[in-house]
Amino acid sequence: MAATAIDLQPYASLNDADCDKRITAAKQALGERVVILGHHYQRDEVFKHADFSGDSLKLSRQAADSRAEYIVFCGVHFMAEVADIISRPEQVSILPDLSAGCAMADMADLEQVERAWQELNSVLEADEFVTPVTYINSAADLKSFCGRHGGIVCTSTNAQKILDWSFARREKVLFFPDQHLGRNTGYKMGIPLDEMVVWDYDLPMGGLTAEQIKGAKMILWKGFCSVHQMFKPDQIENFRRDHPVGKVISHPEASFEVCQLSDYVGSTEYIINTITAAEPGTQWLVGTELNLVNRLHQTLAGDNKTVQFMSPMVCMCSTMFRIDPQHLAWVLENLVEGNVVNRISVATDVADNARIALQRMLDI
Ligand code: 13P
Ligand code: SF4
Repeated sequence: MAATAIDLQPYASLNDADCDKRITAAKQALGERVVILGHHYQRDEVFKHADFSGDSLKLSRQAADSRAEYIVFCGVHFMAEVADIISRPEQVSILPDLSAGCAMADMADLEQVERAWQELNSVLEADEFVTPVTYINSAADLKSFCGRHGGIVCTSTNAQKILDWSFARREKVLFFPDQHLGRNTGYKMGIPLDEMVVWDYDLPMGGLTAEQIKGAKMILWKGFCSVHQMFKPDQIENFRRDHPVGKVISHPEASFEVCQLSDYVGSTEYIINTITAAEPGTQWLVGTELNLVNRLHQTLAGDNKTVQFMSPMVCMCSTMFRIDPQHLAWVLENLVEGNVVNRISVATDVADNARIALQRMLDI
């Protein structure tokens, strides 16, 4: 082990081309001891170094299956936490920049969810009637809460299956933190909008009456993704006017109105697979993060496919963007020198219960 870790500061002045060479050399030196996982929202200069890319579910499975000593997660904080929870104890999960969080995940914390549970308990027996379901975009202690209360984790890929599982056990679901994924999935399963109420975590009893809670099938946390809320129905209408045979595809974190107007709705992996498999010459409007859309546009230009970003504004996930080649070079060169920097380590008691909720999901 080297005595002290290599300092990050000198990497700030490295250009991307130099970082590229150093990342490649460090990866080569580490060989199978390291695996780099890259979410689809990563910028190209980082994404190109990923051994595996995917959506949250696919990358969780990769982390669970990996035998590498080091899992370097080019994504956001909750993803590296999941990798730590479901990998073996001797494996190390690393997030190249610790400030790469998820703004939506930050919209629910344990204290708020515990309070909501207590308040629900004042109206009905929550542990008997309500399954807590957390979107994977959440802190480990919320996954742990779900593990302790008979609940489960979902991703944008499996939300419907997870809700089927949940309703087979208890009559209601408390879904956090993304109201849109909850509503879009619930509606697709036939739950009327008026049986899905929004829990405003800033208000006592979520701003709901006892009757509203008793009458609801789904209680949706008032969280959202600021990137996906940039997509609007008029952007789809404009596209359809200019491209009468064009297709619209959106991520389920987009609003109900946007998803209703879209031809297809699904995870980042689903979006990529659907457009890639489409006929040459087709035209697409895509409601998800900009780096993914730009990469698809470039990859499929040879097929004469048009892949257009839904919003006229630039809206990328600023926290995903924090993982840059400089940070990636820094963590890898530290590993070569025997130093682990930016380890993500979830406390054992939290991890044990979070693993229960994650394993329920992975088993489905
Ligand atoms: P996916 O699981 O579809 O990749 O979504 C993750 C995410 O954070 C979307 O904003
Ligand atoms: Fe979180 Fe939204 Fe970024 Fe996805 S796009 S990681 S939900 S902030």
